Amino acid sequence: MLDVVFNTIWLMLPAYISNSSAVILGGKFPVDFRRDFLDGKRVLGDGKTYSGLIGGTLAGFTAGMLLNIFSLRFPVSVLFGLSFGAMVGDMVASFIKRRLGLERGETLPLVDQLDFLGGAWMVTLGVGYEWFCVNFTVPIMITALVITPILHVAMNKLGSVLGIS
Ligand code: CTP
Ligand code: MG
Repeated sequence: MLDVVFNTIWLMLPAYISNSSAVILGGKFPVDFRRDFLDGKRVLGDGKTYSGLIGGTLAGFTAGMLLNIFSLRFPVSVLFGLSFGAMVGDMVASFIKRRLGLERGETLPLVDQLDFLGGAWMVTLGVGYEWFCVNFTVPIMITALVITPILHVAMNKLGSVLGIS
């Protein structure tokens, strides 16, 4: 049981680091160039910036390279999939939230906590299908879906205590 949780956290760390670093590294230039979508609302909103996207991806990627020193588990393509995919999932969620009429920062429960996980998995499936099937077994995926929202809420609490978010 505990080894499954440990394994899950290890495998998800590049995505976790990517997602939480974007909050710290977020800057001024919105990915959507402040443009509106067909419905007259912002495509993504001011909460999705290039420095968050690029910085988050690099942070997750670097974290995975460091984990590889201890145990070589992540191919480079997979690291890209997990870290960049997390950022893509987060942006897809913002796109959906704007279409639902939610302003930047307004909450959409579960989507806010699992968007980056979905993106990380989808992109990783694309770049490393076999690696994904071997490493993200059904118990690992179920564990990830359960612990990610819990960790997300805990990290946000820690962040606000430290004055980051
Ligand atoms: N952030 C960023 N660029 C990204 C992702 C995140 O700059 N690609 C930063 C922004 O400062 C953002 C913060 O991280 O406000 C928190 O991210 P998130 O909760 O995903 O964005 P929200 O501000 O809540 O916006 P949304 O409603 O679109 O989710
Ligand atoms: Mg948010």
